[in-house]
Amino acid sequence: MIANKIDESVGVDIEDIGRFRKLDQKNSGVFLKKVYTKNELDYCFWKAVPAQHLAVRFAGKEAVLKALSGLGLSPVDYNTIEIFNNDRGAPQVRFCGHKNFKKLGVKISLSHCRDKALAFVVIKK
Ligand SMILES: CC(C)(COP(=O)(O)OP(=O)(O)OC[C@H]1O[C@@H](n2cnc3c(N)ncnc32)[C@H](O)[C@@H]1OP(=O)(O)O)[C@@H](O)C(=O)NCCC(=O)NCCS
Repeated sequence: MIANKIDESVGVDIEDIGRFRKLDQKNSGVFLKKVYTKNELDYCFWKAVPAQHLAVRFAGKEAVLKALSGLGLSPVDYNTIEIFNNDRGAPQVRFCGHKNFKKLGVKISLSHCRDKALAFVVIKK
């Protein structure tokens, strides 16, 4: 009953960057393709330290899933949530192949330091 009236939800996640340091495109392809889109992999592996960008995007996807759950919406595959950067570098979210989710207003903020990556998401119906 109450869930129907909720039209805004938040999600947050923090990741240990160390978990992502061993990932590389040659040996971790299955995991990487399951979690990230091609655009995300291009962005992360173009950077000097891919692990922090991989970790913060993983945190972003988990935060999106938490916010979707708060709205009573079904979870989606990680690699259908794409996090990209606009021309100012600010992160944005788009859903790949989920027509019903196109109208959602999604706001995301990411941050990473030497060993932790954090994401905060707000989704409005
Ligand atoms: C935006 C800014 C505050 C980010 O500070 P930072 O300490 O580098 O940020 P963190 O290390 O905590 O987080 C990095 C994440 O911030 C996000 N980010 C980068 N630029 C951003 C911006 N303009 N707005 C919002 N988020 C931004 C990105 O998601 C980035 O991670 P990613 O590269 O993996 O996607 C800093 O770059 C700044 O002060 N810029 C001022 C100049 C400016 O706005 N330039 C924009 C170019 S036009």
